[in-house]
Amino acid sequence: MKSEDGLTGSISTEKGFGGYRVVAFEARFAQQMAKLIASHGGEPLVAPAMAEVPLGQNVSAFEFAERLFRGELPVVVFLTGVGTRALFEVLETRYPRAQLVEALGKVTIVARGPKPVSALRGFGVPVTVAVPEPNTWHELLETMDASERCPALKGLIVAVQEYGVPNAELLQELKKRGAQVLQVPVYRWTLPRDTQPLEKAIQRLIAGDCQVALFTNATQVSHLFQLGTQLGVTDALRGALSQVVVGSVGPICSQTLREIGVDVDLEPLHPKMGQLVADVAANAQTLLASKRTPGEDFRATLGTRGSAEVVGIGRNASPLDKLETCAFMRACRRLPTEYTPVWLMRQAGRYMPEYREIRAKNSFLELCKNSELAAEVTVTAAHRLGVDAAIIFADILLIVEPMGLGLRFEKGDGPSIDGMIRTHADVARLREVEPEESLSYVFDAIRKTRAGLRSDIPLIGFAGAPFTLASYIVEGGASKNYRHTKALMYGEPAAWHAMMASIARSLVKYLNCQIAAGAQAVQLFDSWVGCLSPDDYREFVLPYTRQVIAGVKPGAPVINFSTGTSSYLEIVSEAGGDVIGVDWRVDLADAWSRIGFGRGIQGNLDPLVLFADASTIKARALRLLEKTAGRPGYIFNLGHGILPETPVDNVLALVDAVHEMSQR
Ligand code: CP3
Repeated sequence: MKSEDGLTGSISTEKGFGGYRVVAFEARFAQQMAKLIASHGGEPLVAPAMAEVPLGQNVSAFEFAERLFRGELPVVVFLTGVGTRALFEVLETRYPRAQLVEALGKVTIVARGPKPVSALRGFGVPVTVAVPEPNTWHELLETMDASERCPALKGLIVAVQEYGVPNAELLQELKKRGAQVLQVPVYRWTLPRDTQPLEKAIQRLIAGDCQVALFTNATQVSHLFQLGTQLGVTDALRGALSQVVVGSVGPICSQTLREIGVDVDLEPLHPKMGQLVADVAANAQTLLASKRTPGEDFRATLGTRGSAEVVGIGRNASPLDKLETCAFMRACRRLPTEYTPVWLMRQAGRYMPEYREIRAKNSFLELCKNSELAAEVTVTAAHRLGVDAAIIFADILLIVEPMGLGLRFEKGDGPSIDGMIRTHADVARLREVEPEESLSYVFDAIRKTRAGLRSDIPLIGFAGAPFTLASYIVEGGASKNYRHTKALMYGEPAAWHAMMASIARSLVKYLNCQIAAGAQAVQLFDSWVGCLSPDDYREFVLPYTRQVIAGVKPGAPVINFSTGTSSYLEIVSEAGGDVIGVDWRVDLADAWSRIGFGRGIQGNLDPLVLFADASTIKARALRLLEKTAGRPGYIFNLGHGILPETPVDNVLALVDAVHEMSQR
């Protein structure tokens, strides 16, 4: 089928949804939702799944106020912004605001995320503990447990402001900690009085008459299935949802969907209605194509080709446009691509004859510090392999020199560092890096690489993550048991935290300089962090990796790569990153669903597969492509770096196979 401009795909992909019928269940913002869907090229079908019941005579709210005034409630938890305002509205019918604010000012106030924080600030109530993103009950409890400003809960009465359905897990966990819970409901939700529109929506979903379903809160999910049960169509409804693109606004909503047996295809990075609609619109056609077998729905088969038109690939695109619209960058942003992008960690290295030739005349450090040669090695590897991204030739350990330590690479022994950091006094002499000067050769190499690299191949900058760097500077080189690293961590936690904070600050500057010099994306390598338990990762590493990722200039995607962390990928993801890089010890499909589809994923072929024959390599690559099922946001890579003994032909065969087999 040809459209007027001669390009394939008659569905208007400029308008994201391309005419799909999009069902949504939003009540309060039903009209805005319908407008948003239409503005993204969808046909809206908005059937509110809930009605708000204001409790004008809110006995619980008044009981709460009386007990608060009597000093019986030492901890008050505010869960939602709307609920906080509603609670004030009810209470202000009886008590002056000043009295409420004064009483709340004397107790511990926990606010779950930015909305209740801003509502409370608006009333002049100081917040004691603010819960970080993604603001689920997990973070809420963790923050309360960890905060010195929050008293131990045992024996205390904790008041919990509720809005909508009570959060059973939260209440149970508070009780487990020995607290008595006083629930303070303000509003409750019911099914709408007139369920006709929702029934019709269910019927149309089951009839296969919708292509996309959008959920903007968890209650909508429960209510939809509550009505489904009443109508006796639960299984049919679940089946129908498995055939459409399911967008969920955030983690709580997604969790509810999964519990009910519905897979979530996309969750936006920020839990906002507008972001949900925009992201699902951008990906709807590819997601649908990956859910349905080709031919089942004519729109599904047309969808993916059309995606190139949205960004105008190949049509007078400027060099920067080309970088922004290439497969790798689009995958980092979880946008559909025509094929799965691939690059390989350590793609420029000793397995490649061209590298060995240059290396024969220069030491490894000379090579890193000679920006001409570093650029040449980078560009040669990327062009020769035909990969979708280049990674700057450098090393994670270069940064230890400007920290004031010595760095040597000795043949066969791997890296070694002089002036190890093992005590509080050592930490004090660790210098914070001003990379502009001290690492200028890396930035020169980036500029030269950018000039020599094909204009549609993005360049990845990188650094070691705080833990992996710390392990090198504490051990003085590679390690088996991380004995000295852990001795410092457990034995002198204050020194550990000071060291990690210093490393993190240096890394932020270093990565941003790489971006300023011309890197399109950056990757953090946490190669050795898998030696830690989940609890230790959370306590000793997470805050610093998070700080580094949060400090990266917005706009350049961050890949958060680690190895050996399969058992706690969820915690690793909490540190952030647009894409999470995983090793081969975890099932790719399983890893992605644990990380959440709101992030991209990279990996996870065992580098040793490259020692097998071409057909085995191809079969293993296909297996990974199948596990990701064409979902936007997957970047093919190994689970760790290429080994020096790897046959080059096998690497070439892998890259070709990934490109060929993933053509959409
Ligand atoms: O192609 C690329 O991936 C870019 C270049 C790159 C190198 N090192 C070049 C290199 C990258 C991204 C790194 C990262 C790096 N360096 C990591 C994290 C990734 C991982 O593999 O876990 C780590 C832990 C290091 C530290 C390091 N540097 C080690 C352990 C070694 C190997 C020592 C050895 O002799 O095998 C190096 C040296 C190194 N870095 C080489 C290369 C190509 C080999 C040096 C040589 O040519 O002799």
